[in-house]
Amino acid sequence: MAQQYLITAALPYANGYIHLGHIAGAYLPADLYARYLRLSGEQVLFVCGSDEHGVAITIRAEQEGKTPQEIVDHYHAANKESFDQFGISFDVYGRTSSPLHHRLAQEWFLDFYHRGLLEERQQLQFYDEEAGMFLPDRYVEGTCPNCGYERARGDQCEQCGAYYDQLALKNPRSLLSGKPPAVRPTTHWYFRLSQFQRALEDYIASHQRDWKENVLQQARAWLKQGLEDRAITRDLRWGVPVPLPNAEGKVLYVWFEALLGYISATHQWARDSGDPERWQQWWLHSSDRQTYYAAFIGKDNIVFHTLMFPAMLMARGGYILPSNVPAHEFLNLEGQKFSKSRNWSIDLRDALTDFPHPHHRDALRYTLAMNFPETRDADFSWSDFQARTNNELAAIVGNYANRVLAFIARHFEGKVPILSEQDREFPARWHAAVANHAGGGIALDAEHFSAEERAVIAALANGAEAIAAAYRSFRFRDATSETMNLARAANKFFNDAAPWKSLTEHPAQCARTLYTCVQVLRSIAIALAPVAPNLSRSIQQLCGIAQPTTGESSGASAGPNLWATIPQPLVEQGTPLGQPQRLIEPISDECIVMQRAKLGAQAPEAPPESAPERERISIEDFARVELRTGRIVSAERVPKSNKLIKLIVNLGSQERQIVAGIGKHYSPDELIGLDVVIVANLAPARLMGVESNGMLLAASNGEQLVIVSPRGEIPPGSVVR
Ligand code: MF3
Ligand code: ZN
Repeated sequence: MAQQYLITAALPYANGYIHLGHIAGAYLPADLYARYLRLSGEQVLFVCGSDEHGVAITIRAEQEGKTPQEIVDHYHAANKESFDQFGISFDVYGRTSSPLHHRLAQEWFLDFYHRGLLEERQQLQFYDEEAGMFLPDRYVEGTCPNCGYERARGDQCEQCGAYYDQLALKNPRSLLSGKPPAVRPTTHWYFRLSQFQRALEDYIASHQRDWKENVLQQARAWLKQGLEDRAITRDLRWGVPVPLPNAEGKVLYVWFEALLGYISATHQWARDSGDPERWQQWWLHSSDRQTYYAAFIGKDNIVFHTLMFPAMLMARGGYILPSNVPAHEFLNLEGQKFSKSRNWSIDLRDALTDFPHPHHRDALRYTLAMNFPETRDADFSWSDFQARTNNELAAIVGNYANRVLAFIARHFEGKVPILSEQDREFPARWHAAVANHAGGGIALDAEHFSAEERAVIAALANGAEAIAAAYRSFRFRDATSETMNLARAANKFFNDAAPWKSLTEHPAQCARTLYTCVQVLRSIAIALAPVAPNLSRSIQQLCGIAQPTTGESSGASAGPNLWATIPQPLVEQGTPLGQPQRLIEPISDECIVMQRAKLGAQAPEAPPESAPERERISIEDFARVELRTGRIVSAERVPKSNKLIKLIVNLGSQERQIVAGIGKHYSPDELIGLDVVIVANLAPARLMGVESNGMLLAASNGEQLVIVSPRGEIPPGSVVR
């Protein structure tokens, strides 16, 4: 039965530029996988596109003073171009604001609607009368019903992590007008996700051996809680309109329709390729075809891809389900979280501008791949980038290519050496040995192969298999480091065979050594193609290959199995080779210093999300708040919380226990002895079961948080006005 591979990568929101954290999370691993499979002769379709709806877009539009359409047009084009320049080899890059996507999403909605898979429910929701709209969760703020945190958002409290219905918020305020919102009835359609509980349990259980543990754990945790029906419509203007009469002002929930973006992008691809029905080959079950579907995502998307999307596909019927959901954890940057608002981030487009050389872009791909957050969060640092570029790619791969080509240029007129009469059978014997080996070690007889030759050919044969196995099981770090090991084996061969010695004593042996070196160089180029396609192409050209292949998009048709040729000698004797050259310019210390200096330096690109100006209050209103200075006398973390710290604060006449959500920004040690400002007459609250008597003032923009501290000497308990 024909086998094919469908690969999707989470559609990025078109509300900002892609950064390297996103790249390491989903797009680069997906690209390595796609390129490896294409090089192995597999039929592959690699699908992505822009997610262009939802509140993420409208908030951005408000911040930039543009229309949502302008925002998505800009970021869609910019991100598409960056992906392309970075060598992410999508076969298609669609967009969810396209008419084609709107039609498809509406058709799915109506199909579910007519088949009784949706339930219409009346519910109450916050409504901003001034703005004339229902308030999405991210537009409301209030006091958390669980922990009393005063700036809890819509449906989730970022202090204690509780989820609740937005109506449960106490003292709600609209972030649009700053006023308490009205409550109005509204109608929404719920997808009967609960009906798929059993089917999804079976589905997840069927993958307990082949899926990653982090993915299984999350999926199982949701199933254990019991799946609830989910509203798949929203009261918003920007999105796919709900295709029902009396549904004006309502759109499909972004997560419902964005997932269908994979399918609509495939429709787009089929159309562009001249056969509009061809999408079916990729998404529908068929008796003559087996599709392996890998859905690449970051860990924040797990529930949608392991439960929601499969349920939708089951509900529609006839569709395949993800065969694997290889979710990555998060990548940090120089030891800290990526954060656009703190400018602690590297946008892909900036990296592309700063590193225009294709081989340096490959070095970035290589460094990221060596640091993929496959099983736990990982870190990218500029010094690691420098070290991997200079000490690995340049010093091992680049150096090997250069040694071989320079030696051949000097002593063999720049052509693959012609083997002597007594070595005439060498290539055929080599081919035969490779052909006869089917996994489990290659047999090279000591009569016809030197110890050095046996070592390097075995390294290629076994390495190619090990790398393939790693790619197929989504172990990209292993695949990448094993690839570098091939280049190490190549250098060792050159050193051990010592052609500079045989040059005069045994010219025939020297020719054979350099003949072998060229074969190995080509092998390395092929093995490098997934992670370093540009470098691979250059080396293939240097080896005299007129039409190099690097596993790039090929219209989803199956090509030759180039991977299987890695251990074979395929460069003909006498082939003219390229000039020796430095393939990878080293990265200088200054360059690294400059890149580091950019982090956190400039003003944030976008103003941090801040509450609009609030209603004015009288001096009497303000006087009701009792603010006093205090001195922290002890501080310790609240168990099982990374945010909360329990403080004892001296207020002059008394000591207070206060629980503050500052644990991500301060350690207990640095707090002791600090003078702070306290809201002293706040009603007591319990946070994670610990009583808190007052509140500590801190300035925050959502990302940063800095404690407010009096400047100068003042005894604890002094009044702050
Ligand atoms: N835009 C979402 C994010 O960046 C991912 C959407 S994946 C899709 O988190 F499948 F729904 F498109
Ligand atoms: Zn809370």
